Amino acid sequence: MIENVIGREILDSRGIPTVEAQIVLQDGTTARASVPSGASTGEFEALELRDQDAGRYLGKGVMKAVHHINHEIKEAIKGMDVSDIYAIDAAMLALDGSEDKIHLGANAILAVSLACAKTAAKAYHLPLYRFIGGINANRMPLPMMNILNGGAHAANTVDIQEFMIMPIGASDFQEGLRWCAEVFQTLKAILKKDGHITAVGDEGGFAPNLKNDEEAIEYILKAIEAAGYQAGSDFALALDAAASEWKSKDNDAYFLPKSKIRYTSEQLIERWEQLVQSYPIISIEDGLDEEDWEGWQELTKRLGKQIQLVGDDLFVTNTKRLSKGIKQHCANAILIKLNQIGSLSETMEAVKMAQEAGYRAIISHRSGESEDTTIADLAVALNTSQIKTGAPSRSERVAKYNQLLRIEEALGEHAICLKEKAVANR
Ligand code: PGA
Ligand code: ZN
Repeated sequence: MIENVIGREILDSRGIPTVEAQIVLQDGTTARASVPSGASTGEFEALELRDQDAGRYLGKGVMKAVHHINHEIKEAIKGMDVSDIYAIDAAMLALDGSEDKIHLGANAILAVSLACAKTAAKAYHLPLYRFIGGINANRMPLPMMNILNGGAHAANTVDIQEFMIMPIGASDFQEGLRWCAEVFQTLKAILKKDGHITAVGDEGGFAPNLKNDEEAIEYILKAIEAAGYQAGSDFALALDAAASEWKSKDNDAYFLPKSKIRYTSEQLIERWEQLVQSYPIISIEDGLDEEDWEGWQELTKRLGKQIQLVGDDLFVTNTKRLSKGIKQHCANAILIKLNQIGSLSETMEAVKMAQEAGYRAIISHRSGESEDTTIADLAVALNTSQIKTGAPSRSERVAKYNQLLRIEEALGEHAICLKEKAVANR
């Protein structure tokens, strides 16, 4: 039974405040969870409540959200069974009463929701992935590792936000992680040799000033080869264009701010087709704007049988937007970011809806993260088979990979590994 609920303001990986919640049960069992924060946030995400008090943290404090946890939320869920996550979330959603969690803040609700799940797992003496996923939680996710950053995540000349490697030929998670780390270190050496900066962006990837997106891809392919692997069989590439950032709000055009090129929706689709033809790309995320539903239909018609098309800003982990996308045949996968929707139960509903419709679900971090590793457990618990959590650099990213190493070790011979191809039809 929940005895106490404590909220606190802590810092995320960018040095910006975020919310942590701690639950204490009557018998003293306790656990805490904290929430991440995006930079290229989708327009339709649930509200991240910030204080807007210019005198603290440049207006980005979260003391209002913390206050809601320490008062209204605590009153509402005190005495409840901590393992009844659906009931706890429902009580918080009812208390907030709004569609986008504007009263309590998605950051307050999610922190409590996750802290309850972690406390319940502890109370039952179960690992988190087992508590949430039950006896079927045995599948290790394939990493989708962002090793080169551009777009809104880096002050460089590259428009595509994320260039990711996926170790599709590795036989287990541990091996896949090692391969990725080797390619990452090799990429660093190659960039350095060519006189490029090797400082890292928000998600741990390098952010060199390159001529264009193609040069970024060529560097990664070179690193894969130099590390002793084969692009196409050992590794595949994935991109996150974050194209909502490119869409002009007053006309139909896409404007790529760094290369200063303008595209129509049709021209952008052609550009993706051409990149997929030229390189071993098996996944493109947010290739079009979050409101370009017609464009998404066309993109899915043209590339959806060949590669994975992921809706991040398009779906914002929201079952209403996902069901619209499923009906209209837009995309074939959803990126799952817990704080886009703001509670564990709604996140699980989104994954379930996707999986039932034959869409893939990919559990994801945000560009602003904390040391919390819940998403590693969640990827295994919900059998998502893919996880996107940055480069093998910066401890807030590596913490998730290290947790997955521990989970694979604990699963032992029951672990279902990466042998099964992450992406269908390829
Ligand atoms: P964000 O970016 O966390 O800054 O929104 C990650 C992504 O677009 O996938
Ligand atoms: Zn994205």
